Amino acid sequence: MSSIQPHGGTLIQRMDPNVQVATIAKEIEIDSFALSDLELIANGAYSPLEGFLGKQDYESVVREMRLTNGDIWSIPITLPISEEKANELDIGERVKLTYNGIVYGVIDVQEMYQPNKVTESKLVYGTNDNEHPGVAKLFQRGNVYVAGPITLVRRPDKRFAEFHLDPIETRKQFEKFNWKTVVGFQTRNPVHRAHEYIQKSALEIVDGLFLNPLVGDTKSDDIPAHIRMESYQVLLEHYYPENRVFLAVFPAAMRYAGPREAVFHAIVRKNYGCTHFIVGRDHAGVGNYYGTYEAQELISHVEDELEMTILKFEHSFYCKKCENIASSKTCPHDEADHLILSGTKVREMLRNGERPPKEFSRKEVINVLIQGIKEKKERAL
Ligand code: ADX
Repeated sequence: MSSIQPHGGTLIQRMDPNVQVATIAKEIEIDSFALSDLELIANGAYSPLEGFLGKQDYESVVREMRLTNGDIWSIPITLPISEEKANELDIGERVKLTYNGIVYGVIDVQEMYQPNKVTESKLVYGTNDNEHPGVAKLFQRGNVYVAGPITLVRRPDKRFAEFHLDPIETRKQFEKFNWKTVVGFQTRNPVHRAHEYIQKSALEIVDGLFLNPLVGDTKSDDIPAHIRMESYQVLLEHYYPENRVFLAVFPAAMRYAGPREAVFHAIVRKNYGCTHFIVGRDHAGVGNYYGTYEAQELISHVEDELEMTILKFEHSFYCKKCENIASSKTCPHDEADHLILSGTKVREMLRNGERPPKEFSRKEVINVLIQGIKEKKERAL
C-alpha cells in the first residue's frame, strides 16, 4: 500500500454484490450525479464518508468545512429527494437506489432533513447566483436530503474500463512503481501547454504523476470526456516518459465550487494514494466567481491537517520573448508578449473553427480535439 494514510485513517469499502435487493420494496431513483457519489463513497475515494451526510455533518461541512468528527471536508455529499418521495420513506428502513430502473445500491435511511440551500450555496459556492452551474444544479435537485450509510451492490458501467481504478488499485500501482511521492492532477480540460508545464515542474521533484481527469457530469460546453481521454493518451505517448505517469479517471461530477472543490479534490486524491496535489490558477473555477489564487489561499489553511503537500502554481502563459511557458515568477517581459492559455480559450477557438497554435497545445492533442468535435457535430446532424 502507498505510504500515505487515507483521509480519516481508513480506506472505506462499502461494496457487496450479495445484498439481497429483491426483498426490498421501496426505491429511490437517483440522478447520474448521485450515482457517481454512490460509487465513490463505496470504493473509498470519499473516505471517511460511509454514506450520504446526516444533518449535523451537513451543517458542519457547510459552515465549518469539517465533519462533526473534526476531519476536514469541504463539499457536502448529499442525496436530495423530492418531498413526495420523502413522505413515502420511513426512518430505519433499507431502500434501493436505482438509476434508469437498475438497482446499484441500498441506503439505510437514518435521517431526512430540509437543507437551507441559500446558506449552502453561499458558503460552499460563494454565491447564490443561479447562473453558476453548481448553484443551478443545487437548486434543481430535490429539497429533502436523505441520509445514512450506503452499500454499492452493482458497479455502474465502467466507462473507460481500462482507466477506471478504485483507490485500493491505484495505491497498489503506485507501490508497484515504487513511487514514494505521487502528485495528483485534477482536470476537466484537454491538457494544454500550461498544464503540461506545471505537471512537469512537479515531476522534477516527485516520483510520479497521477493524471486523474474528472469524467463525471460536466457543463455542456466542456469537452466530452471520451475526446479528452483520447487526447491525454496521445499526449502521454508523445511527450511524457512512460514510467513517470499513471492515467486513471475520476468518475465524479464537477461542482465548479472553486476553492471548496480544490480542498475536496485534494482529499480524494489523497485517498487514491497521492502525497502531493497541484492547485494552479482558479482551480475548479467557472466564469469570474473566484479570484485567481482563492483556491490556493483556502487550501493553505488546511494543508497541514490534510497531511499532503500542495504544489501551488502561479498563472502560467507562453512568453514570445522567452519562447517558452513561464509565469510572473520566471519571466521579466511585458504582458503584451504573453499568450494566455486556458481551457476556455482552447474551447472557444475550436468552436470558432480555429486551430489553437502550438504554443497553446501539442499538435497531436489538437488533432484529436478537432476530429472529436467534428464527429460530435456529425452525430448531432
Ligand atoms: S479544473 O476545473 O479541473 O481545475 P482545469 O482542467 O483547467 O480546470 O485545471 C486543471 C489544473 O490546472 C488546476 O489546478 C488549475 O488551477 C491548473 N491550471 C489551469 N490552467 C492554468 C494556467 N494557465 N496556469 C497555472 N495553472 C493552471
